[in-house]
Amino acid sequence: MKRVEIVQLGLGYVGRAVAQIVIEERKRWMESLGLDLRYRAVADTSGALVGEELLPQAIRLKEDGGKLSELGVEPVEDVLEAEPEEGVTRIVVDLAVHGGTFDLDLLGVRNGSCLVLSNKGPLSGDSGQYESLIEAAGDRLWYEATVGAGMPIISTLKGLVDTGDEVVEIQASPSGTLGFIMSAVEEGKSFSEAVKEAVALHYAEPDPRDDLSGLDVARKAIILARTMGREIEPSEIPYESLVPDGLEEVPLPEFMERLPEADEEFAARMRSVGENHMLRYLARIPAEGPIEVGLTEAAIETPFGPINGPENVFDFRTRRYSDVTLTVTGPGAGPERTASGVVGDMLDIVRKIVRNEED
Ligand SMILES: NC(=O)c1ccc[n+]([C@@H]2O[C@H](COP(=O)([O-])OP(=O)(O)OC[C@H]3O[C@@H](n4cnc5c(N)ncnc54)[C@H](OP(=O)(O)O)[C@@H]3O)[C@@H](O)[C@H]2O)c1
Repeated sequence: MKRVEIVQLGLGYVGRAVAQIVIEERKRWMESLGLDLRYRAVADTSGALVGEELLPQAIRLKEDGGKLSELGVEPVEDVLEAEPEEGVTRIVVDLAVHGGTFDLDLLGVRNGSCLVLSNKGPLSGDSGQYESLIEAAGDRLWYEATVGAGMPIISTLKGLVDTGDEVVEIQASPSGTLGFIMSAVEEGKSFSEAVKEAVALHYAEPDPRDDLSGLDVARKAIILARTMGREIEPSEIPYESLVPDGLEEVPLPEFMERLPEADEEFAARMRSVGENHMLRYLARIPAEGPIEVGLTEAAIETPFGPINGPENVFDFRTRRYSDVTLTVTGPGAGPERTASGVVGDMLDIVRKIVRNEED
């Protein structure tokens, strides 16, 4: 039997979906894989709830907007510093937001844990930070869900590189929110209506400026570029913001109220697009040279022309896929789909342990 324990950072939308899958599926994994998978701890910003007796209560509490400290928590560092029992593999699963968990991830891998991420922050910071994590984690790092949620994007890219193909360029529309907004405007909605609809449908973050700023796409571009083997600093990737001038810092209600001020300028930009072209928010990541993130006129017959709603498109041009590119398309967001990417990584770790035991 393989004994594996999870220390999970984050019990938000994705974190709760991961915990639900683990609770529902682990009996089957025990039978099919001989896997004994348990939660060592789950953490939010208030600390770590140790053990799994209170996990169902914790999930309900977080759904209602509570903090785990209401159930009794310990510092996350203490949990990560304590060695797992002999024979137990620990997986640190970082489903938190942005940069606040980098030190915890580093502590985990330095103490021998495997690391699974849906959080882009730890892999998209400055190169010194990135390299220290990569060096400490070695081959114990999995991050499929950071780009394209549950879609096989990182595994596809690694498969191309590992089998000796040369990636010439990746072009991607990796933001469901921006894809949705662009196609809604094409259908005749105003920019402000499209943004409000994206928020109402939970495609966009509660503060849609997080998506409109382009930072999320830039982070994904950095992760893809680094996976291609490029050494880059985030500052080398200028990204175009769709947040209207003057509304960057105003409170959210004022932002939403004043958003129609930008409608005419956005509509004019749409009207200026050439015939048989569509305006798309894309990332272009060549093997060498500048990485571009921003609005681009895409010809209608390319994979980016027909994007509909929150769909993601990743187009790989490689030595082997040159005349006809390799295109992966699908819904690149949503807690349950993201969770399936995360759980898929966890099961990969288990399969790797089995292979190592057999060697
Ligand atoms: N949702 C998607 O479709 C999707 C798709 C791909 C990738 N992702 C990525 O997956 C991650 C989670 O997304 P989400 O939608 O679940 O976000 P969320 O609902 O905002 O949840 C984030 C969780 O992380 C916790 N957290 C934040 N900082 C922490 C820290 N320093 N230590 C421990 N816990 C911390 C938060 O705790 P509190 O509750 O105390 O604030 C919260 O429980 C994000 O990085 C996101 O970019 C999401």
